[in-house]
Amino acid sequence: MTTADLVYDPYDYEIDADPYPIFKRLRDEAPIYYNEQHHFWALSRFDDVLEASLDAETFSSARGTVIELMDEPMADPPMIFMDPPRHTSFRKLVSRTFTRHRVGELEGRIRELCAGILDPFIGSGGFDYVADFGARLPVMVISSLLGAPDEDQDQLRIWSDYALHREPGETGMSQAARDASKEIFRYWQQHIDARRRRPGDDVMSELVQAELEQGDGTTRRLSDSELHAFFILISAAGNETVARLLGWTATLLARNPGERAKLVERPGLIPNGVEEILRYEAPSPVQGRWVTREVEYYGTVVPKDSKITLLTASANRDEREFEEPDRLDVSRRIDRHLSLGFGIHFCLGASLARLEGRVALEETLRRFPSWEIIEDGLEMVHTSTVRGYARVPLRL
Ligand code: HEM
Repeated sequence: MTTADLVYDPYDYEIDADPYPIFKRLRDEAPIYYNEQHHFWALSRFDDVLEASLDAETFSSARGTVIELMDEPMADPPMIFMDPPRHTSFRKLVSRTFTRHRVGELEGRIRELCAGILDPFIGSGGFDYVADFGARLPVMVISSLLGAPDEDQDQLRIWSDYALHREPGETGMSQAARDASKEIFRYWQQHIDARRRRPGDDVMSELVQAELEQGDGTTRRLSDSELHAFFILISAAGNETVARLLGWTATLLARNPGERAKLVERPGLIPNGVEEILRYEAPSPVQGRWVTREVEYYGTVVPKDSKITLLTASANRDEREFEEPDRLDVSRRIDRHLSLGFGIHFCLGASLARLEGRVALEETLRRFPSWEIIEDGLEMVHTSTVRGYARVPLRL
């Protein structure tokens, strides 16, 4: 068996459009793979990705988790780019405020937001499920979670729409996007200042007052820049990923109308359907790591100080773990998948992501039990962190 013609290039748009045939070949023919052009290794089997995710000492996040950014580690990294013990203190602090209970309290608000966006499309010919809905919902949800008052939501949404907007063919931020980002920064600074003066009962007030454990047994409060960095992290980690999940939800269910009909008939299946959609199309398909000691896989030595990618999306389609992995089956029994990570960096927003995925789907199916995708209007986003659609035009 030759693997000379087996190339996995994560920057190739054609591969990115459908990476699964290559992922299958990697799992079968090169479960430890080296890309000579971009100098990184790749693990593609479920068990290997899982084990590496659990071993943060060998597979470090401290140089970042995006392979092209690892050569120059960040001076002031967010929690997702930290190793213990620094990661442990930050994670402990934010986990106390980011509880399942607090996230659960958002359900009514998420439903209201869905209704506000989806109702105007009832009786219309169609809309863009991601541009008009999936990309907007998570931004509004995170603002609510942080404690932005309802009356500010429209302004925040307008700024966020500008900040997220990219000119056709451009990947960088436009001037309007930069200005909007500055306004958002100023807005949150005012709230930080106000919460420092008079704390309320919201996530931001708790974060402002929270004590970060230092290595020497002392504690201190977070600085303004650490608070902004955290807001930016949860927005970056929570908005693009949920938008991609919702885009996959609309496309996969349109292409599998039988599965969609099951969810309409038995809404109790929706939470499982969301897990299956997460498994089937991982919104964050690749996690990068830095190898801190020599390791060996299948007789091949991966040297210390190598870059390695954990191919989550491949692991989730590994036939060694899942029966008929390439079949979308909303009633499949799923004990575990890797789309929300595993180990110490397990997605902090997992319960929020699941809640948004479930409520968005419930509210969609209640209003629109079926739809068609305008396939030639689909547009993918091309980033090294998320994979999915920026535009999903629907015909109702
Ligand atoms: C469908 C939606 C989502 C997906 C697929 C997703 C996926 C992931 C994955 C795979 C990781 C692990 C990264 C790694 O191991 O390097 C992660 C971590 C993280 N996620 Fe999510 N995420 C989602 C939604 C959210 C939301 C809504 C939030 C915020 C509210 C969030 C905040 C975070 C944070 C802060 C981390 C870093 C945790 C740490 O370093 O300890 N995510 N996410």
